[in-house]
Amino acid sequence: MDSTFRVPRHALLRAKLTLIRRRETDSATFRRVLAEMGAILTAEILRDLPEAMAGIETPVGPMDAPVLAAPEPCLVAVLRAGLGLLEGARMVLPDAPVGHLGLVRDEATLQASEYVVRLPRDLAQRGALVLDPMLATGGSAIQAIARVKQAGATSVRFACVVAAPEGVRALQAAHPDVPILSAALDERLNEHGYIVPGLGDAGDRCFGTD
Ligand code: URA
Repeated sequence: MDSTFRVPRHALLRAKLTLIRRRETDSATFRRVLAEMGAILTAEILRDLPEAMAGIETPVGPMDAPVLAAPEPCLVAVLRAGLGLLEGARMVLPDAPVGHLGLVRDEATLQASEYVVRLPRDLAQRGALVLDPMLATGGSAIQAIARVKQAGATSVRFACVVAAPEGVRALQAAHPDVPILSAALDERLNEHGYIVPGLGDAGDRCFGTD
């Protein structure tokens, strides 16, 4: 794995991931913790966003203080499970516009096809952070990032919770310019395209549909 892929050694992320990996974790807890991880991953992957200085008044006096340089990046959730990460991402970047990409995976071919695309009109003036908890084969992430680039996003980053080596390699090959942040790198994919040991189907666990 080259330097576009990073797993931060972050105790909070690691402990929260253990919680959502557990088979017995219920859907409400899964969703809440996934959102918390979305906030931490977003803060981590956007730590080098450009800043500007603004003259402000504190209750005690004036100062020049850092603010985010405009425009803020767009947050793009890959449906369904990306919505879980999005909830937390919006806690730390509440003014960012949000895009939605609906991709459905054919269980036989494992190929993703689009069923919804809603992206901000001004994406060509912004960067984008694409959110999808599971980087498995890489098919959905590759397609989602291609869509966001096609819409003109100036720079694209990708955050997930669990990555498989196969997915990281595929995503790096397709989009070598895109930094990838994951809370963990697992062993492999199984014959059904699930990450092992992974956490199961993130969408089903998030929305209680399993
Ligand atoms: N999508 C999931 O939700 N889980 C996996 O393990 C792989 C893809």
